[in-house]
Amino acid sequence: MTERGSRVLVVGSLNVDATTYVARFPAPGETIAAHGFQTALGGKGSNQAVAAHLAGADVELVARIGDDANGRLALSVLDGFGLPTTGVERVAGAPTGIAQITVADSGENTVIVAAGANHELGPAVVDDVRDRIAGAGVVLTQGELPVETIERLAATCADLGVRFVLNLAPPVVIDPAALAVCDPLVVNEHEARAVGIGAADGDADASGPTSLDAWRAFAAAAVGTVARSVVVTLGAAGAVAATAEGSWTVAAPQVEAVDTTGAGDCFTGTLTAFLAEGRPVAEAARIAAVAGALAVQRRGTVDSYVPRETLLDTVARLDGTGRPDGTGRSEGAGGAA
Ligand code: RIB
Repeated sequence: MTERGSRVLVVGSLNVDATTYVARFPAPGETIAAHGFQTALGGKGSNQAVAAHLAGADVELVARIGDDANGRLALSVLDGFGLPTTGVERVAGAPTGIAQITVADSGENTVIVAAGANHELGPAVVDDVRDRIAGAGVVLTQGELPVETIERLAATCADLGVRFVLNLAPPVVIDPAALAVCDPLVVNEHEARAVGIGAADGDADASGPTSLDAWRAFAAAAVGTVARSVVVTLGAAGAVAATAEGSWTVAAPQVEAVDTTGAGDCFTGTLTAFLAEGRPVAEAARIAAVAGALAVQRRGTVDSYVPRETLLDTVARLDGTGRPDGTGRSEGAGGAA
């Protein structure tokens, strides 16, 4: 698939997700019965690598697992997807990262992560894979890695002239110089506020704005001040994207969410795959929004991601339906809402 675009190098987290399905979230101290449970591959880095791979990119994943049953499970799932695992190394004595996830019937989730072997993905690893970074078209990482690793990756990509995409999830505090080279910085609205895009959580006006156009303006203002380019995901509302060339809103298809776990990862991995093959950020975001909307309609994380052909067929079908329930509503800088 390399003829379609440049290689995506994901230096990322890998977990095994223990997901419990419940009618509603329990209150503190309360015990409730679940109506479903599954153990599956997770971790934002791994999820995004799978999404990019399914979207058609040539993907390499650099991650760490423990020498345990969960690590073996993770490798077998990655193998099943056909994703190369040579960059996924075992760490003796460390457990594979674990995420305890609860999904309510509303489609919402809670996630608790025990990082385990992911802690071993320190900044020295970035130096170890410098040649692979130099050969990549895009490097993608997430807030689940040690901060020093994210910062070293950003600096290395800047040094080598390689495009750096950061999904700042969860929203850790990192050096503004590292944020400055992100192209794009991919954040949800809470993560955006944490880096000064939109009102800060806790501010009187943090509950708004909610409109895509308001977020488009915030993202546009952050270009060149916070990051080279910015994508803000806004759940069912869609996303906004801003670069030095303009800013755009991207409406999401209206669907019934069954499980939102990993939908943001699906968006980010898909976005990165299409950026790697040279698509403009607004177009890549539009396709990614459809991938995310497809993912939330099925249970699980990577199990809910669809292959490229299905994704592009859906994009084409939705485009044919026209607005407002189609996928794309893009405006250049200064365009009308
Ligand atoms: O974004 C979803 C992911 O977050 C889960 O797969 C879990 O492992 C955590 O990393």
